[in-house]
Amino acid sequence: MFQREMDVELSDRVVEVEGLTKRYPPDITAVNSISFSINSGSVFSLLGPNGAGKTTTVEILEGLRTPTGGNL
Ligand SMILES: Nc1ncnc2c1ncn2[C@@H]1O[C@H](COP(=O)(O)OP(=O)(O)O)[C@@H](O)[C@H]1O
Ligand SMILES: [Mg+2]
Repeated sequence: MFQREMDVELSDRVVEVEGLTKRYPPDITAVNSISFSINSGSVFSLLGPNGAGKTTTVEILEGLRTPTGGNL
């Protein structure tokens, strides 16, 4: 694990999100097909008003919530 972390280059994409969608039935689309990537060594921020879907997005990346669709 440690050795693997040492091998990560600054320009490596360490997070890749494509078409991420989360729906809460019956009628809430919390995250509507968002795509982004994050490079190693960078600072990335999600900005948006309450209800924009920030927490849902982060908690899907953390494995705490399951996506409705898209690729991680
Ligand atoms: N567990 C949940 N069940 C149903 N709706 C939810 C749940 N969590 C969040 N939502 C709804 O999803 C939308 C996005 O919420 P959230 O991800 O918490 O946004 P943010 O963190 O940007 O404020 C809001 O409409 C919120 O009410
Ligand atoms: Mg939040």
